[in-house]
Amino acid sequence: MTVDARILAAIRQASQTGISGAELASRLGISRAAVWARIEELRQLGYCIEASPHGGYKLVGTPDVLHADDLLARLHDQVHLIGRDIRVFEETTSTNDIAEKLARDGVKEGVVVFAEAQREGRGRLGRTWLSPRGKGLWFSVLLRPPCRPQAVTQLTVAAAVATCRAIEKETQTTCTIKWPNDIRCGELKVAGILTELAAELDVVKHVVLGIGVNVNLTAADLPRELKQLATSLRIVTGRKILRPSLAVELLIQLDREYQKVLAGRFAEISDEWAERCDTLGQSVRIQVGSRILLGRAEALDSDGALLVRSQHGHLEAVTGGDVSILK
Ligand code: BTN
Repeated sequence: MTVDARILAAIRQASQTGISGAELASRLGISRAAVWARIEELRQLGYCIEASPHGGYKLVGTPDVLHADDLLARLHDQVHLIGRDIRVFEETTSTNDIAEKLARDGVKEGVVVFAEAQREGRGRLGRTWLSPRGKGLWFSVLLRPPCRPQAVTQLTVAAAVATCRAIEKETQTTCTIKWPNDIRCGELKVAGILTELAAELDVVKHVVLGIGVNVNLTAADLPRELKQLATSLRIVTGRKILRPSLAVELLIQLDREYQKVLAGRFAEISDEWAERCDTLGQSVRIQVGSRILLGRAEALDSDGALLVRSQHGHLEAVTGGDVSILK
């Protein structure tokens, strides 16, 4: 951990009592003047750190900015893999592009790339993903699962469950999953997942899991054509959500679900997914390329594909496409 991360971890841990400059200096092996300089720097970034002669340093407020050191400090000891390495960009084209580049450079799996804003955020099926500065969580996780390309859908399913759990924990709002990757509050989408992979014949080289959560967008941030389809956690709850806290919870839940996938416990994830999914049991219309499939969504298979009973009675496993639930 960096010095800033260690300072933030120590003052968070001592949130009740505060921690003295001397104690921080001795724990970190730096001078008290160096501690003071780092604290000043953190204040400039928006951290509200009180200093009193008796109580020492106390963290009384945190900014709504994504700060890699702070996220690392908060995740330390809580995650095995996802979120042990975090990179934050002020602006990118798409965080999936950065993660893809890191993959090609040989970076270890688990690295997470956040951007405050994306210029070319993308969704599934070639759609654009609106990613205004400071209003959402736009991030990508690099994974190197030892699996077949077909099984990568398991990761999208795991990410959907993790995203729902984290949102519910941080906002006390219930959300549901519309297969394959839409996280919705009521009928409107609040988050989406874009899974991209590099594979060789029957083995995956790496996977980039891109997740976008509409956190603090207001109605004015949503273009007219999106208002019928999407919302944000702020609009749903009526309050601003602290993005760093939600980011930490998301990474904890993603790490947990990924460990289950690696341990061959996908059935547990798929059971929870089925409970949260509002597509199962419904009549659906799925467009895959130019083909349209009409039928009833019955279950998930062991790879995470949707099993659809067609009008003609055949059971088909569908791994992608555009789904509409027919009323
Ligand atoms: C979808 O629902 O169509 C998927 C949306 C995925 C958006 C995220 S934002 C972070 C990452 N970078 C991108 O360009 N897309 C994903």
